[in-house]
Amino acid sequence: MPTSILLVGAGAIGSFFASRLASAPNTLVSALCRSNYAAVKSKGFRITSPKYGEYSFKPEHTFQSPEEIHGAGIKWDYVLVATKALPEVANPATLIEGMISPGTTIVLLQNGIGIEEPYHTRFPTIPILTTTTLAAVSQVSPGHIKHYAWGRISVGPYTPENPIEDTLADQKAARFVELLKAGGISDAQLHSHTSMQQVRWHKLATNAAMNPTSVLSGGTDSRIMGNDREISGHLLAVMKEVLATGEKVLGRSFGNEFATPEQTLKATRKSEPGSAPSMLMDWRNGNRMEVEVILGNPLRFARERGLEMPRLQTLYALLRRVQENAESGERRGERL
Ligand SMILES: NC(=O)c1ccc[n+]([C@@H]2O[C@H](COP(=O)([O-])OP(=O)(O)OC[C@H]3O[C@@H](n4cnc5c(N)ncnc54)[C@H](OP(=O)(O)O)[C@@H]3O)[C@@H](O)[C@H]2O)c1
Repeated sequence: MPTSILLVGAGAIGSFFASRLASAPNTLVSALCRSNYAAVKSKGFRITSPKYGEYSFKPEHTFQSPEEIHGAGIKWDYVLVATKALPEVANPATLIEGMISPGTTIVLLQNGIGIEEPYHTRFPTIPILTTTTLAAVSQVSPGHIKHYAWGRISVGPYTPENPIEDTLADQKAARFVELLKAGGISDAQLHSHTSMQQVRWHKLATNAAMNPTSVLSGGTDSRIMGNDREISGHLLAVMKEVLATGEKVLGRSFGNEFATPEQTLKATRKSEPGSAPSMLMDWRNGNRMEVEVILGNPLRFARERGLEMPRLQTLYALLRRVQENAESGERRGERL
């Protein structure tokens, strides 16, 4: 039996990884599309990549709505969720209601901290895999996915009640990594529950520093931020605060296998001119930014343990207000 995979959130990152999974032997990959439905239904996705070349990927089924998926009656082995993580807007688990059955594994391809909880609460007996991706991908026009650089994906089970024992989710994570590798993602890495959370906190350090700062500084690209003396000092301090908090929350220190904030900053200084962190792209496009999962949730996790994160708190307070002002229309036409 082929492995049936459903992508929910057929934007940049999801479509890229789905296209690689589709090239693994014996997989059937389908997609739920929204604004790119017409383009994908007629021609499939076109992927342009420095590593994989130019190729197309036509989903087995291209769905326009959750109802269409329910009607198809397919039992999915993996449901990949790659929407932006915006749990403050609506419970994200609601979107995949009716797509999950015994035997399904949920795979979350999203940034941030605490993104797994709504799914774990709604589907407590279903294996959940959580991932971080180090990849630069965007959808440049409907159905055209441009992969610019990197292709690392870290995959691990989300089993907070059972972080050590070998669980069904551990087995599903190992199988998912095999599928990614068979699809040409050589840098797919398998982790345990705790080590995966550590990878998430490490990724958060970069995201929580670069993303809000690029918006709050009036739209500054990564290279300029890294080379600005005052801003780079601020970025370094935010990254250090996040990593120090992550160590306390998880009870584990970040070893030599993790890049230090100084190394991350050095890489930022060399990034392509004009390269914009994802929040800045969302802001420029008038889309909601992932403020809660990147800033609000870590702050809440810290506070539940009696810890404070003053740098992050400042960024959160300011950026949340900037977003609310823009959305309420009070500052219409006065975007930063
Ligand atoms: N892009 C990257 O290079 C990158 C790298 C690392 C991590 N990430 C993370 O990956 C996640 C996804 O980011 P992305 O850049 O791929 O975002 P994206 O390009 O905006 O893709 C999100 C997709 O989800 C769709 N979607 C949202 N709500 C939906 C709904 N209710 N029903 C159906 N489809 C829905 C969107 O449809 P519409 O187009 O109609 O809105 C869009 O196609 C984020 O957490 C991001 O932080 C991204």
